Amino acid sequence: MGKIVEIQSVFAGYNSNIILSDISLDIFDDDFIGVIGPNGGGKTTLLNVVLGLIKPYKGSVNFFDDLKFGRNNKIGYLPQQNNIDRKFPITVKDVVLSGLIYGPGFLSRHSKQDKLKADETLLKIGIADLSKYPIGELSGGQMQKVLLSRAIVSSPRLLILDEPNTFVDNQFEGELYEILNELNKEMAIIIVTHDVGTISSYVKTIACVNRTLHYHKSNIITEEQLESYNCPIKLITHGEVPHTVLKKHSH
Ligand SMILES: Nc1ncnc2c1ncn2[C@@H]1O[C@H](COP(=O)(O)OP(=O)(O)O)[C@@H](O)[C@H]1O
Ligand SMILES: [Mg+2]
Repeated sequence: MGKIVEIQSVFAGYNSNIILSDISLDIFDDDFIGVIGPNGGGKTTLLNVVLGLIKPYKGSVNFFDDLKFGRNNKIGYLPQQNNIDRKFPITVKDVVLSGLIYGPGFLSRHSKQDKLKADETLLKIGIADLSKYPIGELSGGQMQKVLLSRAIVSSPRLLILDEPNTFVDNQFEGELYEILNELNKEMAIIIVTHDVGTISSYVKTIACVNRTLHYHKSNIITEEQLESYNCPIKLITHGEVPHTVLKKHSH
């Protein structure tokens, strides 16, 4: 188990407006962290810090291992909103291949090896049959699987997903978590989600983010703990585990 990212006493936000105050978090290569917290609490901002998209006002973010020499293609990212134009006449495979572009230029030439890697990834995510489909014909869940494929086609060390299941059906959600469970054998995962009930069986630990960050070293969390973490979120309780929000994970 090796450390890949270290966030130390970071203050970060936008236009000198501090959103996250004094947050610290270590990310290890086998982590599966569920990030929860109220809307506007700073979950996406935390991801921006990890991704290096915003620079902290104070504190430090350090990268280790493969990430030390550039985060390009070493962190896979599935953003909360994608700006893919579904009317754009591009196939599933081309979208996945775009995850293997190392320099500028969209739809540049790809090597045979890249194409094999794309096929392999589509197979792994279970959408090999969609390879030649134009993206305009996909359902919401299928599109998310395509974007997930693009995020992991470069074999990143860390996969970051920001509310991947907000606009998709329950069936997709179940499939997604099974896929993530498999991917976690090869990479660290951070997932932001509103669905506190379901993530529980898959994540290993929980980060509660609401302007500050409280790291909870278990996937079982009680209402009292959430309250003490200043994390007012809607709870979905499971009957089988009274007074806990989350079920035991299967690892
Ligand atoms: N690009 C931005 N510029 C200015 N303010 C932003 C930007 N993105 C987010 N914010 C503000 O930062 C706060 C936290 O947002 P965000 O990190 O998106 O929260 P969450 O993902 O938990 O809903 C909100 O008040 C939001 O309005
Ligand atoms: Mg967000």
